Amino acid sequence: MCGIVGYIGQKEKKEIILDALKELEYRGYDSAGIAVISDGKLNHFKAVGKIKNLEEKASGFESKGSGIAIGHTRWATHGKPTELNAHPHLGAFSYVVHNGIIENYQELRKELIDKGIKFVSQTDTESIVHLFEQNLATGVEPFEAFKATINRLEGAYAVLLITQVAPDTIFFAKNGSPMLLARDDNDVYFASSDTAVVGRAKEAYYLEDGEYGFAKTNSVKLYSKDTPKEFVTKPLPEDKTLAQKDGFRFFMEKEIYEQSSVMNDTMLGRVLEDTIEFEELDKSLFDGIRAIKICACGTSYHAGLTGAYLLERMAKIPCQVEIASEFRYKEPLLTPDTLFITISQSGETADTLEALKMAKRAGLKSLTICNVDNSSIVRESDYAILTRAGIEKGVASTKAFATQVMVLWMLTIYLAQKRDTLDKESIDTELNAMRHTPKALIVARLLHERIYRLSKRYLHGHGFFFIGRDIFYPLALEGALKLKEISYLHAEGYPAGEMKHGPIALADAELFTIALMPKNMLYDKIKSNVEELIARDATILAISPDTFGMADDYIKIRHADHPMLEFFEMMLVTQILALEISIRLGNDVDMPRNLAKSVTVE
Ligand code: AGP
Repeated sequence: MCGIVGYIGQKEKKEIILDALKELEYRGYDSAGIAVISDGKLNHFKAVGKIKNLEEKASGFESKGSGIAIGHTRWATHGKPTELNAHPHLGAFSYVVHNGIIENYQELRKELIDKGIKFVSQTDTESIVHLFEQNLATGVEPFEAFKATINRLEGAYAVLLITQVAPDTIFFAKNGSPMLLARDDNDVYFASSDTAVVGRAKEAYYLEDGEYGFAKTNSVKLYSKDTPKEFVTKPLPEDKTLAQKDGFRFFMEKEIYEQSSVMNDTMLGRVLEDTIEFEELDKSLFDGIRAIKICACGTSYHAGLTGAYLLERMAKIPCQVEIASEFRYKEPLLTPDTLFITISQSGETADTLEALKMAKRAGLKSLTICNVDNSSIVRESDYAILTRAGIEKGVASTKAFATQVMVLWMLTIYLAQKRDTLDKESIDTELNAMRHTPKALIVARLLHERIYRLSKRYLHGHGFFFIGRDIFYPLALEGALKLKEISYLHAEGYPAGEMKHGPIALADAELFTIALMPKNMLYDKIKSNVEELIARDATILAISPDTFGMADDYIKIRHADHPMLEFFEMMLVTQILALEISIRLGNDVDMPRNLAKSVTVE
C-alpha cells in the first residue's frame, strides 16, 4: 500500500527521499514521486513503475543546502497507476502526498471545480492541495489554511504538504493511516514506517489519529483537537531487519498481526453501505455464466474451497474447486458458460498459470484473485481482483489467505445481489459481519499468551488432525498445512464427520486433534464427532467460543453472531499455534526447509 516520506534539513534531499522510498517498497506500489523545495525553488519528479524509473527521471537534479522534501509510493485506488495520478499532487505553488482514502473527495472536488479549479488527476488526493490553496487565498496564515483543510477531510489519511509560501515548513496530519516523525540533531523526517528512517534518525514519535502540526528545522509543533501537544520520542531500532519486522520475531508473526489492518484495505471502496462493488469488474462479466470453476494451489486452494461453500450457499451458483496441478492433466470438461477463477498470492505459480492458459484456450472467461499486480497470472487473466494484503514475506502464507477468503466472500455477495438470491436483510447481515472482520482479526495479548503456553504440550505425538465442518473444513486443511510447513510435524485436515470412516483407527492419547467448534455452524454435529474421538482417548484441543469441558485443552475465541467472524478468529489461533510450535522446535519460521515463496516450476 502507499508509502509516505518527508525530510527537512541540510543534506541532499533527493537521495534521502529516494532511499526512504526504497525502504517502503515492501508495502507494494505502482508509481512514485518526490517534490523538493530548496533555495525557494520547487521541483518535482514522478514515474510509473519501480523507484529506479524515478531515479532515472531525477538523475540530473541536486538539492544540497537547507530545504524540505516529500516523497510517495502510490498503490492505485482512485484512478489508474499513471504519472498524472502519482503523488505529489501539485496546486499552483504547493504539493501534497497522501496515504489513505478521502471519502468525501467527490464533494470536495465538485466544490472546487465549481470555483474554477482544474483537476489533472483522478485521485481523491488532489482535492487536498487545491483546498489548501483556496483556504490560503482567504488571507490566513499557511498553518491556519492547512488546519481548515484537514478539518474538511473525511476518511483515512496521513498527509504531508509543502508550499512555496512557507518554504522551510512541512505541514502534517494523521488520521487512520500510519505516520511517524523522527529527529536527528536538527533534521526532521516523516515516514509511514520506521524502516524508512532507521539508520538516519535515532528516535521517533508515532503520530496518533487526529494529530496534526507543522515542522521546521529543529522545531516541531504538534496539535490534537486544537490544543498544542507535548510528545515524547522513542528510540528507533538500529538494525534495519528488526525494523522491517516491526519488533516481531518473524515476518510470519508480523503478518499474522497485520491481518486486521490489511482487511480494511481489502474492503476499501468495495464494501459500501448496502452493496458490494468491484470497480475492476465489467458489469457484464457474469452474463451467460452458469457455473464457476476455481483453480489454485496450496493455501490459495484452501481459500478457494472456502469460497465454494459461500458461492453455492448464498449466490446459488454451482462451484467446483480444483488443485491446479491435477486439473492440468485430467482432460477437464470446460464449457464457455463457466467462469474460471484462479487464486494466487504470488501470481506466478506455474501450475495455476498453466491451468489458466488451458481455460482460456477453451474459451472461458477468466478472473484472478491475486495479491501481486502485474504478475503473470494477473496479466494473463481477463479480470483481476487484487487482495491488497501487501507484500507477504513469510513463506507460510497468512494474510494472503485471509484476504483471499474475504474477496471470495465479497464476490459471493456481489453475485448474490446480481442473481437476486439473497434478500436485503441477509445482505445487510453479511455486510455488517464483513465490517466487523478487522476487529475479529485483532490478536488479543491473552490469546497469544495462552497459545504460547499450550504449545509446549504439542511438540511430539504421532500426528495432528485438524477437524471441522462446512467452511471450517477448508480452515482445518489450512491449519494443518500451516503446522506442517513450519513445524515439520505430520498434520492432516479432515472433515469432522469423516473421521469415523477410517482415521479414527489412529485415535489414542498421542493423536492430537485440533477441533474447530464454531457456535454458528453445526456445533452439535461437530461436538458428537469430537466425543467419538474422546471415547477413543484421542487428545483434544478444542477451539470454540463456548467452554468444552471434555476437551484436554481449550482455546476460547470471542462470541460472534456470524460464522465468518468465528472463521477468521479460529484462523488466527491455528496460525499462532503453528508459529509457537515451530519456534519451540527451533525452526526457521520464515524460511522453512524445502519450501519457496513463489513456486514457478511444475
Ligand atoms: C502457503 O503457506 C504455501 N507456502 C503454499 O501452499 C502456497 O499457497 C502455494 O504454493 C500457492 O502459491 P500462490 O498462492 O502464490 O499461487
